Amino acid sequence: MTSKAQQWSSQRAFILAVTGAAVGLGNIWRFPYMTGENGGSAFLLLYILFVLILGLPVMMAEIMVGRAGRAGPMQSLMNMARENGASPQWRHIATLGAVTLFLILSFYGVVSGWSLAYIGKSISGDFAGQPPNVIGGIFGQFLENVPLLLICHLIFMVLTMAVVARGVTQGLERLNNLLMPLLYLLLLLLAGYAVTTPGFGEAMKWLFLPNPEAITWKATLDAMGHAFFTLAIGACALMAYGAYMPPEQSLPKAVIAVAILDVGVALLSGIAIFSVVFSHGMEPAGGPGLMFVTLPIAFSDITGGTWLSAAFFVLLLLATWTSSINLAEPMVAMLIDKGWRRGQAAFAVGVAVWAMGVLSALSFNVLSDVFPLQALGGIFAGKTVFDLVSSIPPDIFLPLGGLLIAIFATRVMPASDGRAALGGGEAFYRRWRKITVMISAPLVALVLFVSLLKLWGVF
Ligand code: PFF
Repeated sequence: MTSKAQQWSSQRAFILAVTGAAVGLGNIWRFPYMTGENGGSAFLLLYILFVLILGLPVMMAEIMVGRAGRAGPMQSLMNMARENGASPQWRHIATLGAVTLFLILSFYGVVSGWSLAYIGKSISGDFAGQPPNVIGGIFGQFLENVPLLLICHLIFMVLTMAVVARGVTQGLERLNNLLMPLLYLLLLLLAGYAVTTPGFGEAMKWLFLPNPEAITWKATLDAMGHAFFTLAIGACALMAYGAYMPPEQSLPKAVIAVAILDVGVALLSGIAIFSVVFSHGMEPAGGPGLMFVTLPIAFSDITGGTWLSAAFFVLLLLATWTSSINLAEPMVAMLIDKGWRRGQAAFAVGVAVWAMGVLSALSFNVLSDVFPLQALGGIFAGKTVFDLVSSIPPDIFLPLGGLLIAIFATRVMPASDGRAALGGGEAFYRRWRKITVMISAPLVALVLFVSLLKLWGVF
């Protein structure tokens, strides 16, 4: 791997880089709409539970493999498997990861493109003083504007691949340093505004008052997938970052810090969005448009809202930018390991992802009646290309990848490598291993297996 010699300059820079990968659309856009579709607090509870008992151990496992391997994901997996006399086929965890990342980035780029357009709409005052139904209408019309959707998507992909083409660490650390505090500040402001709205009480009840009857197998599968998605784990993306980790860094501490920052962003954005939903009698299950309708409504109500709205979408764009760089990097690293030059690899990946993303962008207009995997039934039925790529890879492929990574890190990778890469001493390593083997891995397998059978109507 060409970037082997690079390293994050400090512990803080590593945490910021991983947070940059974790915090993105998943927290601000996907979390609220998944929560809205899955009964509010039931989803939130499952999601937090999964972050704790699956997310933390698997995130450690994934970064450990990269840290011990000190190479691109595929190379790291293969080297360590060989070292322990295991089959080199374990490297295909990285192949599954690359397919997953490809599909995720294809819709991620499209939705990030929406934020780009929304910066323009905010600055030109489209939302200022408008009633909620007009703001809802603006989103509807926007989704019909095919050329604009495609251009925004293209610009976003160019931005992403331009950074990836130049190597990992350059510029990123500095961007994250500035981005995270500003993003938190604006979200706190929005949450502060939410407290003053009439729907705040109801939003808090919807989010935090337990309602066990809303716990379904669909909600469970969605929450598990979202825990993996939001932490950016299960596709070897963080494995690639682990390779640049400074030797003195404590991995457990870094992982916990990232998870707290990540869940914090989701909660703040959930509170802001659902307060608007309940203040205006809107539908919590508003689908992918939820954030793009509710937050402009909130901003249209706040003094200086035009600029705050523009600032918010700029920050969202930056947050999704750092995440999509992380989504793209392992695919590019994989081609580099096969002998490609970085620039060429970034170009090829960018073009392929963009082309796939076009199908997602068209799912809201020209292709809105096309359900490509209808014949398979179950979780595939009634889903457009966008619906498919935004649900199957996060909800199924990421947990599956996470499960394989957990098995690899506990069973295949030499224990001495694991211990050194995890840090935190022998007792901590043993505890991590026990939790991963006895709880995390079986739970992922169980939820995947049962919920898929259930959703297919097998029982
Ligand atoms: N964690 C990112 C988000 O919440 O927006 C998305 C993501 C990045 C998922 C990287 C998976 C990944 F490998």
